[in-house]
Amino acid sequence: MLITNIGRLHGIVPEGVRCLRGGDMAAFGSMPGAWLRADGGIISGFGKMDECPSPMPGEEIIDARRGIVIPAFCDSHTHIIYAGSREGEFVDKIQGLSYEDIARRGGGILNSADRLHDISEDELFEAALGRARLMMSRGTGAFEVKTGYGLNTDDELKMLRVAARLRESINARVRITFLGAHAVAREYTGRQSAYVDMLIAEMLPAIAETGLAEYVDVFCDTGFFTPEETRRILEAAAPFGLRPKIHANELGISGGVQVGVACGAVSVDHLEQTGEEEIALLAASETVATMLPGASFFSRLPYGNARQAVDSGAVLALASDYNPGSSPSGDMRFVMALGCIQMRLLPNEALAAVTINGAAAMELGDRCGAIAVGRDARLIIVKPGVSLDYIPYAYTEPYIERII
Ligand code: NIG
Ligand code: FE
Repeated sequence: MLITNIGRLHGIVPEGVRCLRGGDMAAFGSMPGAWLRADGGIISGFGKMDECPSPMPGEEIIDARRGIVIPAFCDSHTHIIYAGSREGEFVDKIQGLSYEDIARRGGGILNSADRLHDISEDELFEAALGRARLMMSRGTGAFEVKTGYGLNTDDELKMLRVAARLRESINARVRITFLGAHAVAREYTGRQSAYVDMLIAEMLPAIAETGLAEYVDVFCDTGFFTPEETRRILEAAAPFGLRPKIHANELGISGGVQVGVACGAVSVDHLEQTGEEEIALLAASETVATMLPGASFFSRLPYGNARQAVDSGAVLALASDYNPGSSPSGDMRFVMALGCIQMRLLPNEALAAVTINGAAAMELGDRCGAIAVGRDARLIIVKPGVSLDYIPYAYTEPYIERII
């Protein structure tokens, strides 16, 4: 396929660049007046329109009519495999209950675990597939999906099989994370360390045996798992080749950033509550700092200090956290808009955070999320007349002309 008359081609990186830090995010490359060619779903060339090659026989030609082209979004943190929804708790929160209040009275994640237990695997798959298709219709081309509403071995395996089936069924790159330590299962109420023991002795080997998951996650936060438990779980998962991508510092300064960085986490995610020490640690590491502004918006939490993270030189990604409790949306355009409006990222920085840096948070920084020869031609052709800055500015206006 040959795309001609691209008003501006955004997201260009030099060969070999897998993520962007600091000032490089604002300098995420672009080229005015461009063409781009893809062969078998892979970018095979691009350049200035006045040097556009002639079409090859049988090649599909797409005239972008001066619309800009951006890489498809890479959403590195979602929980889209769940049963039902939790709008009842949403109304409770409007009336004053907090996320932790709801969790303490047995709602929240445990509510979703009960429902997941009761639903058939096929129904669960259909629900997740619908959400994946919705995300893709909004421009997402690669995403991560977590288990974590099973909380016992059978139901975690059920989620894992659904995740694997999702990966087979859609044209998006999908990464899978085992999140058995999302909450303490109801049967283990008051026996958190017994739950962690069971997770390590029973769940982890069963999950690893399937070979379906790439990552291990722990909800390391106030009222959930401690840094010590997190470290135990990550260390137990390492021999199985499960790399850490963890939840930290959503509800408090949990120590999760320190454990994540020490264990070589691919990413630490949430970071609504993050001090100078945490930012400095992340900036000095390879771990991607992933912030989830949709969860801040929906749960009325503070926004992560994305500005300071970028200015300190951390690799900052933004992701949707699509889940039924704290962020029931997988629209990465809204995430990008929150990055600009609430976190003071420049549009080009926000674009880098939702594309190449999201890809890096899934170890796909060399495959997608940027324009370079040899990478996925997963692209969004934007309506003519809509600039990059306009996308997060007029954040509810339709802007997608076509998704490749
Ligand atoms: O990322 N923080 C932990 N897990 C999810 C919420 C899950 C839920 O409430 O169902 C999150 O916000
Ligand atoms: Fe999450």
